[in-house]
Amino acid sequence: MKTLIAANWKMHGDLSWAAKPKAFRDAHGPQNTNVEILICPPAYLIPALVKGSEGQDILIGAQNCHQEQGGAFTGEMSADMVANCGGRYVILGHSERRALFGETDGLVAAKAKSVLASSLVPIICVGESREQREAGDADEVVGAQLKNSIPESADGHKLVIAYEPVWAIGTGLVPTLEDIASMHDHIRGILSARFGENIAQSICILYGGSVKPSNAREILALKDVNGALIGGAGLEMDSLCAIAREAL
Ligand code: 13P
Repeated sequence: MKTLIAANWKMHGDLSWAAKPKAFRDAHGPQNTNVEILICPPAYLIPALVKGSEGQDILIGAQNCHQEQGGAFTGEMSADMVANCGGRYVILGHSERRALFGETDGLVAAKAKSVLASSLVPIICVGESREQREAGDADEVVGAQLKNSIPESADGHKLVIAYEPVWAIGTGLVPTLEDIASMHDHIRGILSARFGENIAQSICILYGGSVKPSNAREILALKDVNGALIGGAGLEMDSLCAIAREAL
């Protein structure tokens, strides 16, 4: 499978950032067939980024969507709408959405079902808090999130999982390589039990949390790490580029 290097811009950027895909490609050179680049800007920038990424071999996605495809849901955007403006992926259940906007596993599953119905790829985020890791509960917490955030109807195709320990997001702290490898192995095992070995092996599992050019190579080299979900270091194309180079 291709290595997926995904930038989550969170609530950053303006219309001038539509030039960033071209800046990335100018700095990075042509698409390497082994690496896929994805940028998930704030929703209002998706159409501009889709246009700005034309011919640059860079995919655009959303950071969230509503679980219904339309209706009286003021302020929301549906998966169909993401697809309609050219988005290909939707990040779901990011820890910021779980913590700040009260998203539950059940809601994430409903959103993922809607995303799959729109022929988009959900990136389902899971990850433990610092307290949960210190209590030795990380595997159990992530296992439960995975079980309940993947919709029951999913068959494992067109699914991406992102392991993002909450305590590693935006802090500069990163789990040990052993801990990342162990969690990714655990996640692969759960996917295998649910979807069978072959399909589980084809599911892309991203690591996210303080990924930067200086640590990307060793993280991306781990056996069950198939890419990265990048916050801060994905805002500037120089650093996103440097991380993508480590995936080659
Ligand atoms: P940082 O890379 O800034 O730690 O953010 C990670 C993240 O939340 C990506 O979704």
